[in-house]
Amino acid sequence: MSTDLGLFLRTLNERVEPERLLERVVGGPPDDWQRRLMNSASDIIMVLASRRIGKSTTVGVMAGQELAKPDHQVIILSKTLAQSQLLFAKIAHTWETMALPIETRRRTMTEMHLKNGSAVVCVPAGQDGEQARGYGVRNGLLIYDEAAFIPDAVYGSTLAIAEDNAKTILITTPGGKSGKAYDMWTDHSMYPEVERIRACSLDIDRMAKLVERQRKTLSKFEFDVEHGLAWMGRGQPFFDPETITNSFTDTPQLKLGNIYDGISATR
Ligand SMILES: Nc1ncnc2c1ncn2[C@@H]1O[C@H](COP(=O)(O)OP(=O)(O)O)[C@@H](O)[C@H]1O
Ligand SMILES: [Mg+2]
Repeated sequence: MSTDLGLFLRTLNERVEPERLLERVVGGPPDDWQRRLMNSASDIIMVLASRRIGKSTTVGVMAGQELAKPDHQVIILSKTLAQSQLLFAKIAHTWETMALPIETRRRTMTEMHLKNGSAVVCVPAGQDGEQARGYGVRNGLLIYDEAAFIPDAVYGSTLAIAEDNAKTILITTPGGKSGKAYDMWTDHSMYPEVERIRACSLDIDRMAKLVERQRKTLSKFEFDVEHGLAWMGRGQPFFDPETITNSFTDTPQLKLGNIYDGISATR
């Protein structure tokens, strides 16, 4: 049997069924949103997700699934270099856990190139996506990590990186109520081609403990954004408005009673 055929047979199950890959990595079954994302046939998918729900892990598995095919590219855009290095480390770890029989040819802090001609590259998007300009994805994935925090100018210069056979995925916690990611999530008539997937920690049993801990430590506003998937209103202050009002108001009035009680002007 040729090595190519052997490789094909050994990875066939997992390529057909990405859930099995994810299960091996996290040691438990995938959530519904992960199943839906990994099996989606749409060209553009947007995932609005709570913090710590498994975004990077799922992106890692999807990247791995693409890398297992020959000559596929995965480009991941993060806001900053630090963020793209962090995400890359997570993806590389996920790839190792998947233990597919494909050798690595070259690896840096932000990219990994494999013997089968496939590669994953994490690119800092910066303010304008300048660093991503040279890339193209003929087959594979273009992923926007924390998409709601990536400047609009970046979308202008990078959405075209994904060519006809490539998928585009935007995955994010909620950001401000403006900009490209917010529009793509909310404006169905402008973006009918976008498949939208909600991944809310409040709906997922395995997250219950973390959610309850965070409910106590985060402000209501932070909790509603990071777990409840609420987009942040324009000009919404970081401090809870109710707390601010209460600290400057004199209602209920201070109960001092009659401070002139017992004082007689005639004495
Ligand atoms: N379906 C799942 N079942 C159990 N654990 C999971 C599942 N998906 C992800 N995890 C775990 O959740 C944790 C957070 O995942 P991560 O991908 O870093 O989240 P995020 O990028 O959303 O912050 C990791 O320890 C990961 O292994
Ligand atoms: Mg993450």
